[in-house]
Amino acid sequence: MESQDSTRNSNSADQTNEIGHTQHVSVMLDEVLEFLRPRAGGLYIDGTVGGGGHTAQLLAQSAPSGRVLGIDTDERALERVSGRLAGFITADRLKLVHGNFDEMRQLAVQAGFIGVQGILLDLGFSSDQMDDPQRGFAFSSDGPLDMRLDQSLAVSAADLVNTASEQELADIIWRYGEESRSRAIARRIVRERSTRAITRTSELAKIAAAGVPYTPGSIHPATKTFQALRIAVNHELERLETVLPQITELLSQTDLAGQAARVAIISFHSLEDRIVKEYFRREATGCLCPPRLPVCVCGHKARLRVVTSRPVTPTVQEIERNPRARSAKLRVAEKIIEA
Ligand SMILES: C[S@@+](CC[C@H](N)C(=O)[O-])C[C@H]1O[C@@H](n2cnc3c(N)ncnc32)[C@H](O)[C@@H]1O
Repeated sequence: MESQDSTRNSNSADQTNEIGHTQHVSVMLDEVLEFLRPRAGGLYIDGTVGGGGHTAQLLAQSAPSGRVLGIDTDERALERVSGRLAGFITADRLKLVHGNFDEMRQLAVQAGFIGVQGILLDLGFSSDQMDDPQRGFAFSSDGPLDMRLDQSLAVSAADLVNTASEQELADIIWRYGEESRSRAIARRIVRERSTRAITRTSELAKIAAAGVPYTPGSIHPATKTFQALRIAVNHELERLETVLPQITELLSQTDLAGQAARVAIISFHSLEDRIVKEYFRREATGCLCPPRLPVCVCGHKARLRVVTSRPVTPTVQEIERNPRARSAKLRVAEKIIEA
């Protein structure tokens, strides 16, 4: 599904072009569309536009009048998408905004997207980012140790690696990478940087993988350290926690066909998935008081209904076509329609 070829249907073919080509292959595209049920006249928010594959199909399936607000923290991603989906922008059906999805409420209000019918988050980073050594996400190719999704962030991975204490580094690698060798890796980082700053991805990969034989078929020994630093540099978990209540508020009561408005979230590691699962579960629950209390004092009301009781995962065929989809989990919830 290279770059979600715009020929999936005639509406997208009319309004996408090859300028701003993306390497990124959208994950669980059909499933996302099935759950979000885009339709004409609807308002949709894609909080992680990336290569624009999901956005393009939300627009195509909501033709002729559905509108999408596309947000990304990476200006280069937005430049690419604005070239590729220029036709939709001209037709006033796509509005692209550079920003962080943790400010979704404000960005949506500013863009006039109030009472939306569907919201998508496809978390993490795109192949365009991963495959560009200059962005510093990949341990397999050498580049500056950057990892900032948003280039305006003050602290890069190199800053973190060269200034955090050994204990802080061990905590980051343990908490965000779930790496059992976190202490040893942190110790090695601190030893190496005492002679010269660690500034390249290849240097960090060597340090993180030291002493661990790489067996083909298993994950590279530097994978978890790189994941941990990326999460820390971009404050990924905090931002996800911040956006979830905003999403619930932004969803309208019903879509234009009287169906509940929905949110779909694709995550790529258990830390993100747990946050989404627990948030959905809590918002699908009424009273949250401890069971020993005879009457409810919290006043909490269920606002969401969980649509996917278990996470949806990519098919074997999709993983064969796009191995990067293998760890994806899709969870969907919908706004409870109040009587
Ligand atoms: C997996 S890609 C999305 C791919 C997209 N769904 C597609 O079909 O091409 C994730 C994108 O989300 C962006 N991103 C990650 N965290 C973000 C955040 N907190 N706010 C806004 N964008 C974010 C990344 O810059 C990246 O472009």
